[in-house]
Amino acid sequence: MPTPHIESKNKDEIAKTVLMPGDPLRAKFIADTFLEDVTQFNGVRNVLGYTGTYKGRRISVMASGMGMPSIGIYSYELYKFYDVENIIRIGSCGGYTPDVKLYDVILAKDVWSESSFAKVQSGYESDVVEGTPELNQRLMEYAEELEIPMHIERIHSSDVFYRENFEEYKEIHHKHGCVAVEMEAFALFHNAQVLGKNAACLLTVSDNLATHEATTSEERQNAFTNMMKIALEMAE
Ligand code: ADE
Repeated sequence: MPTPHIESKNKDEIAKTVLMPGDPLRAKFIADTFLEDVTQFNGVRNVLGYTGTYKGRRISVMASGMGMPSIGIYSYELYKFYDVENIIRIGSCGGYTPDVKLYDVILAKDVWSESSFAKVQSGYESDVVEGTPELNQRLMEYAEELEIPMHIERIHSSDVFYRENFEEYKEIHHKHGCVAVEMEAFALFHNAQVLGKNAACLLTVSDNLATHEATTSEERQNAFTNMMKIALEMAE
């Protein structure tokens, strides 16, 4: 410590549980809006990281950047070098079916990916990896207490946002049972598994490939508060 990508020199500056939005400005928004007694522990590459308290309990929030290589780096360094135990990704996703509507919240029970991330990282051969059941159980309880409806489903982690064959999502939905696509959970869940740590992923639907509906980037930055409130209850 510090690591190549995180400048904090002291493990104690980072809580045992870290919320990870993709966007640094979403990390700042969460710290500004929901946390008290906030300190900033990272600013390298503008990948902002903060620690504070929520309802008196300690929690950190740090951006992951976009894609599996990026979250692969940050989650690995947090788990391995800063003794972080739990990482909850809070991100946006594209729905693969009209059943998941704009702003709906999805808890990723597990994730399917065609990515080589896990194979290259550790020789892991399967194309499915699970979130940590204990974290998922807690998140389901918090969602129920907050009366926020939540889909609990398999999602797709993709390395590619712009596919030449747009229609491919239909096959991925039907063959693998994925209800939505994002770009990070597979690498996060894999890192948690190889390092003996915990990971979960909450998503808000920002666009839908089946209905062609979409939210604006401004809404994406600020409007996903339901998912944030569920995840913030993980503070301890
Ligand atoms: N995140 C939000 N929408 C997405 C999409 N359509 N594809 C991949 N990741 C996303």
